Amino acid sequence: MSAVELERRGRIALILVDHPPVNAISQAVRAGIIETVRQADTDDDIDAIVLGARGRTFMAGADITEFGGPPKEPGFPEVIAALEGAAKPVVAAIHGTAYGGGLELALACHYRVAQEDARLGLPEVNLGIIPGAQGTQRLPRLAGVALALEMIVTGAPIDADTAFKAGILDEIVIGDRIDGAVAYAQKLADAGAPQRRISNVEVPREGLDDQVFDEFRKAMAKKARGLFAPEQAIKAVEAAVALPFEEGVRRERELITECMRHPQSKALQHAFFAERQTARVPDLPKDLDRRDIARIGIVGGGTMGSGIALACANAGLAVNLVEQDEEGAERAMATVTRILDGMARKGRIAEAERDSRASRITVSSAMEDLGHADLLIEAVFENLDVKKDVFRTLDAVAKPGAILATNTSYLDIDAIAAVTDRPADVVGLHFFSPANIMKLLEIVRAEKTAAHVLATALAFAKSIGKVPVVARVCHGFIGNRMLEGYVREAGLLLLETGDPEPIDKAVYEFGYPMGPLQMGDLAGLDIGYMLRQAAPADRYDPNAYRVMDRLVEMGRKGQKTGGGIYDYEDGARTQSAKTLTIAKEEAAAAHIARRDMPAQEIVERCVLPLINEGAKLLEEGIAIRASDIDVTYLYGYGFPRWRGGPMFYADGLGLDHVLARIEHYRGRLGERWWTPAPLIEKLASEGKSFKQYDKDRGVR
Ligand code: COA
Repeated sequence: MSAVELERRGRIALILVDHPPVNAISQAVRAGIIETVRQADTDDDIDAIVLGARGRTFMAGADITEFGGPPKEPGFPEVIAALEGAAKPVVAAIHGTAYGGGLELALACHYRVAQEDARLGLPEVNLGIIPGAQGTQRLPRLAGVALALEMIVTGAPIDADTAFKAGILDEIVIGDRIDGAVAYAQKLADAGAPQRRISNVEVPREGLDDQVFDEFRKAMAKKARGLFAPEQAIKAVEAAVALPFEEGVRRERELITECMRHPQSKALQHAFFAERQTARVPDLPKDLDRRDIARIGIVGGGTMGSGIALACANAGLAVNLVEQDEEGAERAMATVTRILDGMARKGRIAEAERDSRASRITVSSAMEDLGHADLLIEAVFENLDVKKDVFRTLDAVAKPGAILATNTSYLDIDAIAAVTDRPADVVGLHFFSPANIMKLLEIVRAEKTAAHVLATALAFAKSIGKVPVVARVCHGFIGNRMLEGYVREAGLLLLETGDPEPIDKAVYEFGYPMGPLQMGDLAGLDIGYMLRQAAPADRYDPNAYRVMDRLVEMGRKGQKTGGGIYDYEDGARTQSAKTLTIAKEEAAAAHIARRDMPAQEIVERCVLPLINEGAKLLEEGIAIRASDIDVTYLYGYGFPRWRGGPMFYADGLGLDHVLARIEHYRGRLGERWWTPAPLIEKLASEGKSFKQYDKDRGVR
């Protein structure tokens, strides 16, 4: 099978790219397009050329797997020259997602038509680069600077209708895209239409003043914080305005080359592939019979339960939510309605859509109502006995073959499964709050969870738009177990610095959306407090929580109570004199000397424990692969994506360096929390990385 085929439809040459799954523009595709365009262009029986693709999408981009390797000829410039330089009209026939290099090749064609549900975009910034096949020079010429900036700098795709109105598309095809494109091409040929070459067009000057770029930079500042590629993308569009086409293309090349060399592009490309790996569980046979999941039952209508209900209803699933009494059930429905109303008010969904999502959720106080559910998710209070009770009831009411899931974030799922007569049907589904928004779903595979139950849980995650990560049972699974060290060090640092601000600032500047103490306030300091109260005394470092515990005991539980580590009197976060006093008192009581702390030490103290615990999770087999841990932290805990995740970040530092720094802190802070994971010692001594460790075990 060839990656590019040439067919004839009357007097139209039809070039079809056929390179599953997404028609990424590999070397074979590039060579194939050049060759078929040449054949069609020199064939006297051909009037015009259509470039389309087989399968689920038009070309969805350059082949990312070629990035970083030696250049393979022919490159994009030759393909573009062949398309744009053709002596016969060339029409791109777009369906699915014309992304990145795919859209750039379409922009090299003389005309573009698309199916009405097609999407067009230049998402390269998400991979830490910019379009490098003249897209930054062509799109502003065709669509104007404002839309081009928006698409190239944010990476957000647009729909066919928007593209048509902006002049990117010449026609929207209803029905078969190929038939439509062929008819359109024949019409052009019959009319003697000229080859419209975007490289000959000037960037439209209308509405273009000196302020445009500065204003755009200002508007992007927050979103692009810490990122390298968006500024490069702005510079490339500036070049399109300031320079003749060929010079602009050269400038684009310089800018993308700088991106390619920047560590962020490696990290972002790692993240792209890592999130596509997580659903691969090595010992899970591919041809398992998954169960159909159409109706979801949820026990508990608090923040978590109602968020999960919404996540499922948003994806078109029917939901029965059960609360303890009618009042609780109504409260849960009110929560759901409030969120949906908010989405409708902000224009994110139409009113009819809001109503249909709400109508998929039924609330009641009768557990028997869950008897028809295919998947039952328990989201009640985080207490083992309470959860066991719920599972006894679920075991009694659920239909045979239903999956029973717990949303616990810490507890022993094997113990929960053991109270049922069907432990093979029990699995952990750890959602993150707000569950209708956060993309991470930790799927916890208990000792007896059946393979097809796990496979069904993975498919369910995908069906509701979540990124699943599979974990085994342990206290806190992957994400929360690692978090303990991060939060502990933040608490200790608070005693040492006496001031929360430098701690949060250092972590924010590392790239997190907020620091650990701000996060504590947002999540609620009482959550950790309750966990610690219920845990064995030696589980935690008592010094680490001295300040938090006192704050909780005086009713300062965080943002929700108007004050925690910080004050939130008018909604805005401000330094709290109370916290400063408590920190001073507690530091004195614990005999901890106050000192100024360099930002680098703060970051190391918070991030090295994540890496160390991550290594233990890998070694124990709790996490399948290092990149799964990265995905957990990117999607569930705000670790900066452009750093690739804690394990990728560690590889970048070098595990010998990581080891040396952990040993340094062991020397200063003691071995209780700072003993290096044996895996780090081993890999460092072998000069290996976590990535290599995954590769050696064949899980990459
Ligand atoms: N190059 C190489 N492989 C690619 C690719 C690309 N540009 N885009 C997707 N793939 C691979 C994925 O890694 C995945 O491989 P796997 O099945 O071995 O894991 C497979 O194609 C399917 O992709 P997936 O993302 O799972 O499918 P989807 O239907 O959910 O989404 C896209 C399809 C095209 C929207 C999405 O893959 C995407 O956004 N791709 C990147 C587009 C891009 O950034 N293009 C610009 C590159 S310069």
